[in-house]
Amino acid sequence: MNKTQFLDARNIGAIYMCGIIGVIGQDAPSLVVHGLKMLEYRGYDSSGVAVISEGTLEIRKNTGKLEEVEKKEKFSELNGNISIGHNRWCTHGAVTKENSHPHTDCTESIAVVHNGIIENYLELKEKLIANGHSFKTQTDTEIVPHLIEEKINAGKNFETAVKETCNKLEGRFAIVVVKKDEKQMIGARRGSPLVMGIGDGKYFLASDVPAFLSSTRKVIFLEDNEMAVIGSEAKILNFKTNVAVQRQVQEISWTAEEAEKGEYPHYLIKEIMEQGVSLHRAVNQDETRIKEVAQMINAAFGTYIVGCGTAGKVGLAGTYIFSKVAKKHINFAIGSEFPQYHDFLTPKSLTIAISQSGETADTLEAMEATKETGGKLASIVNVMGSTMQRMSDGYIMVNAGPEKAVASTKATTGQLAILYLLAFASAGKLPEGKQLLDKTCGAISGMLNKELTEKVKTLANKLKSHENIYIIGRGLNYPIALEAAIKLQEVSYIHAEGFAGGELKHGPLALITKDTPCIVLVGNDETRKDVLSNAREIKARGGYIIGISPENSEVFDEWIQVPDVGICSPIVNIIPIQLLAYFIGVEKGNDIDRCRNLAKAVTVK
Ligand code: F6R
Repeated sequence: MNKTQFLDARNIGAIYMCGIIGVIGQDAPSLVVHGLKMLEYRGYDSSGVAVISEGTLEIRKNTGKLEEVEKKEKFSELNGNISIGHNRWCTHGAVTKENSHPHTDCTESIAVVHNGIIENYLELKEKLIANGHSFKTQTDTEIVPHLIEEKINAGKNFETAVKETCNKLEGRFAIVVVKKDEKQMIGARRGSPLVMGIGDGKYFLASDVPAFLSSTRKVIFLEDNEMAVIGSEAKILNFKTNVAVQRQVQEISWTAEEAEKGEYPHYLIKEIMEQGVSLHRAVNQDETRIKEVAQMINAAFGTYIVGCGTAGKVGLAGTYIFSKVAKKHINFAIGSEFPQYHDFLTPKSLTIAISQSGETADTLEAMEATKETGGKLASIVNVMGSTMQRMSDGYIMVNAGPEKAVASTKATTGQLAILYLLAFASAGKLPEGKQLLDKTCGAISGMLNKELTEKVKTLANKLKSHENIYIIGRGLNYPIALEAAIKLQEVSYIHAEGFAGGELKHGPLALITKDTPCIVLVGNDETRKDVLSNAREIKARGGYIIGISPENSEVFDEWIQVPDVGICSPIVNIIPIQLLAYFIGVEKGNDIDRCRNLAKAVTVK
């Protein structure tokens, strides 16, 4: 991937963060619809399905959430052995039925679903129009079926036409293409993810593994510039060099149940409640990778953690963790700022990307900048086979299992645990770190009980109509105050802001009036005294103090007790806030798993 492939979104009318899927085999359309449900976290403003059956191509698509479109368009009526589907997430440009995928050529014989952005679509579109093609949408994607049509009209077969088309596209794309008189499905990628699933008499192509996890755990991750041509058998080739590619089938450890809600009403609460287990998986993984990355940190001259949103707050916490545990200075920058900040990189630099999805464009750009200067790359990611994992010299899996709610929870605590492990490993004290984290896992399983959830639910009721909530923390808990604000913003839609306790007197204290809720994150460390003193400053101005702390204090109006896990307090302190955000969101009737205006994988700049 080169820098220009991280496109400047501002130049383009329509920008997508989407989920795509294709299935070949029995019950293809219902498997596609199921896959779209599993991929809904990637986008949910419109959906569509195309089916090939006995030489005909039928497309049903519309705007709205998948469940609405599914009903409106009666997806359950669709039959056939080849089917593709798409969830669209458009941040610019119109959400219209026409602009929803799949898109077709002039003769409506070829259907394409696409994730990514085709940079040179205007130029290609002009040429196609000059050649007599007519367009029905404003999308960049629509040029793909027309280009394929053009090549087929020039006598090329389906496979060659798709291959030559891919070579004309600039930008990032993952596509799946079908043609009404072909018994094949072709997928290709550059920059956007595409994974092939190999089932019993079935093949799948999808943006992410959960899309087909209920049918198979056998996968092949396609690399950039590769295409999969799938009929009764599948082959992979490089569309640039036209050379066949042999790839080993990998077995994914995630289970289908992990990707389902089960008895829970929302993914978010399921993912919050399973953190004892997910954390245990993060901590008790093979030590090889942890030691490898710790060694990279020790060998580097300048280590930079990068991440965005929640992963960014975890990254900031990482700088405190390394200072405390390993007495080591590590730098941090948010992904989108790194390009303005990276002129000091040298071949001795190390950039560690933190990401749940492993696909966040801003973080990827920071990694690319490091690569260009000859520096090393490491990543802490949750999605196996993701771009970040594959482009890293060393990587550590978070092992949280599929995280489906847009708001990150179990991946967050897993990422924090990995940073602790890395810091302990870098200081040559990994066994000590593991012991502490094992204790933390046990403490989390113990604290996630009915007593805590009932207490937080009551607090949620009390806070739900407030317009502002402030959170303070010091030291290790300062980045967690920032993360707490993100959780409350995206799930409960309340204005929330996190501050370092010591900063209050430099401005934010002016915001405190009678009954303003302020959450105080307390760690049982040297910051305890000072953060409680900050809480008193707030209380003196009328603030309502909610303490999250192992011990009670006279300053708390409400006390949420958390276990004392020493320097791992950030991991336990964020959990009551995750619950609070959830219960306020539920009380307000918010769309819990699909936060307003947000998507899970932010694959655009
Ligand atoms: C918030 C949240 C986001 C992500 C951010 C980066 O709950 O999930 O802020 O942390 O979009 O995403 P990843 O971790 O996939 O790089």
